[in-house]
Amino acid sequence: MIEVKDVRKSFRDKAVLKGVNFVFETSKTNMIIGASGSGKTVLQKCMVGLIEVDQGEILFEGRNLTTMTPEARKELRQQVGMLFQGVALFDSMNVERNVMFPLDMFTDWDIKKKLERVNTVLERVGLTGTNKKFSNELSGGMRKRVGIARAVVLKPKYLFCDEPNSGLDPRTSMLIDKLIHEITIENQITTVINTHDMNSVMEIGENILYLEDGISEWKGSNKDLVFSKHQRLNDFIFASEFLKDAKDMRALETRGIIDDNRDMNEILKEGKIEPGKDEKNDK
Ligand SMILES: Nc1ncnc2c1ncn2[C@@H]1O[C@H](COP(=O)(O)OP(=O)(O)OP(=O)(O)O)[C@@H](O)[C@H]1O
Ligand SMILES: [Mg+2]
Repeated sequence: MIEVKDVRKSFRDKAVLKGVNFVFETSKTNMIIGASGSGKTVLQKCMVGLIEVDQGEILFEGRNLTTMTPEARKELRQQVGMLFQGVALFDSMNVERNVMFPLDMFTDWDIKKKLERVNTVLERVGLTGTNKKFSNELSGGMRKRVGIARAVVLKPKYLFCDEPNSGLDPRTSMLIDKLIHEITIENQITTVINTHDMNSVMEIGENILYLEDGISEWKGSNKDLVFSKHQRLNDFIFASEFLKDAKDMRALETRGIIDDNRDMNEILKEGKIEPGKDEKNDK
C-alpha cells in the first residue's frame, strides 16, 4: 500500500500538485487519470523519488519516502519496478540483456541464475524465445511486454506504469492491461498506472484517482464511474455523446432497470433513458 498525503509540487512559480491525497492499494491496478498536463507523470515521479516534493508525505507501508535516508531509499528503490512512458528499451541491447539489466545492477547472481530468472519472466509475458532479438525487430506490443518483463524481473512490491498502452491498438492494449492486472494479483504488487485509455479504465480500473488542476478531485472504482454524476469527470471520461449514452445505458442495466437482452427500439420508444442518481462522491 502506498499512501499519498497532501503532496504539493511547484516548478518555479507554477504549482502542478496542489495537495494530492490518495491510497494506492496492494494487489490492485490503481489508476491515475486526468487531462494532459494535469500532473500524472509528476505525481508518479514524486512517488518513486525522481522528483522531490515541496510538501506532503509518501508512505510505502507506512515508511515515509520524503524523510528516508539515502540508504533506505536505495533499498526501497529495489522494490520498485517501472514501465516508462514510451518503454525506453536500450536499443543496443537485445531482449535478454534489457531484461537482465536490473539484475546486473542490483544483484550479485551468477549468469546462470540471472538467465533463469530472465527466461521465467519472458515466459510470463509470452515472449519465450525472443532473447536475442533487438528492439527494432519487435512490434510495439512486444516492446511493452519486454518493458513489463524488465519492470518485474526483480520481483517488485510496487509497479509504476506511465501510459502503458500509448501507441497500441485497442486489442493489444487490452492484452497488455490484462497482463499487468494478472501479474499484479499473482505477486501482490501495488500497481500504479497513469492512463488516457478509457478502455483500460473501464476494464481494470479498480481504484481510480482523477486529478484536476493539481488536486485529487474524485476517487472511486470503474463501477462508481458508471454512476458518477460529477460533471467534469463525466465530460473527461465519456467525451463523446455516444459514450455518454452508453454510460447511461450501463447504469440502468446495472440497476436492473433494463435487462441485458433489451430491445433498443422498445426502450427508446418508452423513453426510459434517464441519468443515474446517488453518487456519494459527486458534486
Ligand atoms: N521538470 C519540470 N519542470 C517544469 N515544469 C514541469 C516539469 N515536469 C512537468 N512540468 C509541468 O507540470 C505539468 C504537469 O506535467 P505532467 O507531465 O505531469 O502531465 P501529465 O498529466 O502526465 O500529462 P500527459 O497526459 O500529457 O502525460 C505540465 O504543465 C508540465 O509542463
Ligand atoms: Mg504523463
